[in-house]
Amino acid sequence: MGKDQKKIILTGDRPTGKLHLGHYVGSLANRVKLQDEYRQFIIMADMQALTDNAENPEKVRDNILEVALDYLAVGIDPKKSTIFIQSLIPEMSELTMYFMNLVTLARAERNPTVKDEMRQKGFGADVPLGFLAYPISQASDILSFKADLVPVGIDQEPMIEQTNEIAEKFNRIYAPVFPPVKSLISNAPRLVGTDGKAKMSKSLGNTILISDSSTAIMEKVMSMYTDPEHVHASDPGKVEGNVVFTYLDIFDEDKAGVKEFKEHYRRGGLGDVILKQRLAAVLERIIRPMRERREKFAKNPKAVRKMLEKGTAEARSVVQETLRDVKRAMKINYFS
Ligand code: TRP
Repeated sequence: MGKDQKKIILTGDRPTGKLHLGHYVGSLANRVKLQDEYRQFIIMADMQALTDNAENPEKVRDNILEVALDYLAVGIDPKKSTIFIQSLIPEMSELTMYFMNLVTLARAERNPTVKDEMRQKGFGADVPLGFLAYPISQASDILSFKADLVPVGIDQEPMIEQTNEIAEKFNRIYAPVFPPVKSLISNAPRLVGTDGKAKMSKSLGNTILISDSSTAIMEKVMSMYTDPEHVHASDPGKVEGNVVFTYLDIFDEDKAGVKEFKEHYRRGGLGDVILKQRLAAVLERIIRPMRERREKFAKNPKAVRKMLEKGTAEARSVVQETLRDVKRAMKINYFS
């Protein structure tokens, strides 16, 4: 099958911080797998990141390179996946403007993801309009490529629903331009943080980064939450709710070894330090090749920049094509 017959995937991230193991199990590993079978576009959604970071654009700017390095580190291959920067494709913003006329304020306020985030950020009536509109902009991200599939976490499902609503409305009012989009919901459960909190997240300070050094990994694992009642190595310990075992279940391929450790821990006699050393070694084995690849690319930021420029140019020509269809459908293709 030629490159052009492949189904199209659109996925991406807000460049607001280095990526961590939660991103890896939730989406990055999947992207590495999907890039062979699909035509995959990866958006670095800097404009979306600015909708709640308007006052520190340098954070977004600096993280473009960091996130690009994380992508390359985990094995996203720019020959197979097209990585691009949202703000460098003005046609996507243009599409957002047209789409905004198809969405009411009430509908924008009803998006459950936005509602949750507004509550978390305490925005109330002072919500920036750009933030309220980011799902409309995200619909443009997706529809600009006439994407077939969007791999997302369950919390992003309402975005796909709203995207299809906008596409249907556009098609109905003007002309059938946009095919329906399907979400590909990840079945990987959310990775808990090193502190045992439900979610690994930068703002909670409980992450293990793809770029972490072996010392950082060791320190973070050593500070992990185990069983507060397992005080002496000889005490019997709890496996359930013990974050170290949660991680071993996910990352340690030696299942028999993990089972043995669980039994030993339950019966008593297995100290936390030995247990944690096992996990640190497992994580180091996974992260080391990523870190090494990352360091190699980090030495050559010019090449990374070139890769982003090339990806953006390629993505832009696809979006321009879509915008031609859009303007023709809307009959605002004045001089063509
Ligand atoms: N909202 C996504 C996030 O916060 C990033 C994103 C922007 C995205 N545009 C997208 C994801 C389009 C999938 C498709 O991580």
